[in-house]
Amino acid sequence: MSKVVSYCVFSGLFALGLGSLSLAASDPAAIIAKQCKTCHGAKMEKSYLNKTAVVNTLSSEEIKKDMLEYKAGTLNRYKMGSTMKAQMAKLSEEDIEALAKYIPTLK
Ligand code: HEC
Repeated sequence: MSKVVSYCVFSGLFALGLGSLSLAASDPAAIIAKQCKTCHGAKMEKSYLNKTAVVNTLSSEEIKKDMLEYKAGTLNRYKMGSTMKAQMAKLSEEDIEALAKYIPTLK
């Protein structure tokens, strides 16, 4: 039992500190299918309510920055920032990193 706990603490620290080196790899395709598709399309190819950018045309850097700002609650580009903040609450920084790398490959 204590082994399990220390494993969890260990991998948690990894996820926080070292992102892509984490033991529990993020699966961006699964996250999109489960969480983003409804609003942004299966390939992130839709503009939500014809207001947002088509996310798969943005660069990795832009996607990552936007997602981190939504998570922090500091971005409200089209006055719907709270919608994205709620989405980001479920994601780790590692998930965000993985999504930012993956999404531009979908276009
Ligand atoms: C419930 C609908 C909804 C879901 C689900 C959703 N989003 Fe969004 N997304 C929005 C809205 C609304 C905005 C615009 C927010 C604002 O006003 O700044 C947005 C904006 C964005 C932007 C910035 C686009 C721009 O125009 O600059 C990115 C990047 C993004 N979302 C990524 C994601 C990712 C990745 C997921 C899945 C983890 C996701 N979103 C899930 C509704 C959603």
